Amino acid sequence: MTANIIDGKAIAGAIRADIAQKVKNMVEKGLHPPGLAVILVGDDPASQIYVRNKKNDCIKVGFYTEEHLLPAMTPEDELRKLILRLNQDPKIHGILLQLPLPKDLNEKAMLELISPEKDVDCFHPVNVGNLFLGIPRFLPCTPAGVMEMLKYEKVDLKGKKAVVVGRSNIVGKPMAMMLLSEHATVTICHSRTVNLPKITREADIVVVAIGKAKFLTAEMVSKGQIIIDVGQNRLDEKLVGDVDFDAVAQIVAAITPVPGGVGPMTRAMLLKNTMQAERLVRKG
Ligand code: GUN
Repeated sequence: MTANIIDGKAIAGAIRADIAQKVKNMVEKGLHPPGLAVILVGDDPASQIYVRNKKNDCIKVGFYTEEHLLPAMTPEDELRKLILRLNQDPKIHGILLQLPLPKDLNEKAMLELISPEKDVDCFHPVNVGNLFLGIPRFLPCTPAGVMEMLKYEKVDLKGKKAVVVGRSNIVGKPMAMMLLSEHATVTICHSRTVNLPKITREADIVVVAIGKAKFLTAEMVSKGQIIIDVGQNRLDEKLVGDVDFDAVAQIVAAITPVPGGVGPMTRAMLLKNTMQAERLVRKG
């Protein structure tokens, strides 16, 4: 038997269509559309593609968008001034500072300059803290995309065993928190976990965000599981996930593909957070 392939591209398309309709309604009422500013420092080719996609998504749903492309040698003070100016700009509801930044810039300090009200990535410590307290203002885009896919697939997480492989601040840790808020029993695994295959085999849901191509193999899964692949790795010029898709799909109940799984959902969640940021300004 082969697994049900969870189509992130289609789900993201449905979310975008819903957002586009809401923006149309806003504009018809004479309101300004939500606005997203995207900042890219340097010329990393992968980041350039991500930023271009985010801008195109904004245009498709009718958002106002600004792209700020700065050279790699930009002094920190210049970036600081740009962020502070965008914090004050009423047309801008969300600010996204594309990571990674060039080495000479202090990533943590720059992210902390973004007003928590405009932090649509949910990277600011205040927003991370609120998420961990169970009172989120925004949800970080990738784990939020995973949760949305599970919701679309009508997965009831209550009491389920969820294993998160990877403990990054952007994906692993917030993913675990969000699964926990839906009453899953959550285990976080990482590079030093002992006997990882035994732990992953016993899970109902496995989310893999470890950043290693084809890391989760057939020996690490079992029948009936849902496998969510957050990985985006380049292997022989191809984009592949953290899961050995062809082998694992023969065993489990459902699996997300790469590309076309979590990636499009992350971008859809950025649009959702920008909508949310605008609504919070307007309605409090
Ligand atoms: N670089 C890779 N993924 C992301 C993301 O989700 N947000 C930002 N700001 N930078 C990234």
